[in-house]
Amino acid sequence: MRITSTMAETRGLYSAAPVGLVPTLGFLHEGHVALLEAARAECGTVAMTVFVNPLQFNETSDLARYPRNLERDVELASAAGVDIVFAPAVDEMFPLPIATEVSVAPLAQRMEGVHRPGHFAGVATVVVKLLAGLRPDRAYFGKKDAQQLAIIRRMVLDLSIPTTIVPHPTVRERDGLALSSRNVFLSESDRVSALALSRGLMAMSDAAEAGERSARALEEIVLDTMAAAAGVRVEYVELASARDVARLDVVDEHCFLAVAARVGEVRLIDNVHLEVTPDGVAADRGILLDRPSVLYSQADDV
Ligand code: PAJ
Repeated sequence: MRITSTMAETRGLYSAAPVGLVPTLGFLHEGHVALLEAARAECGTVAMTVFVNPLQFNETSDLARYPRNLERDVELASAAGVDIVFAPAVDEMFPLPIATEVSVAPLAQRMEGVHRPGHFAGVATVVVKLLAGLRPDRAYFGKKDAQQLAIIRRMVLDLSIPTTIVPHPTVRERDGLALSSRNVFLSESDRVSALALSRGLMAMSDAAEAGERSARALEEIVLDTMAAAAGVRVEYVELASARDVARLDVVDEHCFLAVAARVGEVRLIDNVHLEVTPDGVAADRGILLDRPSVLYSQADDV
């Protein structure tokens, strides 16, 4: 496995087609590893990027606090069969202050966009730069970040970028908590309260599969579960179209029911994708790990 710091050097190492790319902010957990394994199974060359993109953090304190551990990331990537880890410095990615911004505004204004202004323009801009500079055939993204996935798919369609976007189901702890690099900041009691998000979503999925199609009724199930948990402050619970992130009143085609909440000091997001099939509604609840995740006891700033 090779570690690179420029895009040209990275492209020069591609050995077999198709080339699969897994963009990350680093501090890998099994959710990221699942994306790497999917890329490994489907691609001749697998590249992973580790870049804490300053454009997508709206609070500088959040950027400074973002956990980092490149050495650990390289070990996990190597074990997953990654060929190249592209870990650029900020100056390498942005030699000049960036003057171009990619904004998928209609899809970025609701939900996460309300609570993190500018975040998705930062994500879209860095992802388009990675796709343009690294030119992968396939790029892997998690359904955990449902709105991000919808935005990237639309951007790739709008701009005719010749990369196939491959979605991957959300990876969860055995008790249902969606894996996130932020989970390390949860106290023991907050970790218990945080389970209300996935518990509510699982109960909602059961109701949707049993025939409940009303957004209001499904959102209520999640809200009620979270209201019963101590220290959970809900930011939103909403059903949205996976195509354009528009609010839906009923489950339709392909959509997702997403939740964001603060648990203690930590902001968590989670969702379940719902699809209308000829046999009724099918929920993608994600994948439960069969063993506890690799836990990081403390953030290790590089
Ligand atoms: P990051 O949060 O590091 O996530 C990298 C990828 O892993 C994203 O596609 C995300 O959706 C996926 N992921 C995270 N947790 C997951 C889980 N529990 N199950 C499945 N997939 C999961 O998302 C970003 O980085 C950045 O915004 C990025 C796209 C790299 C642009 O900077």
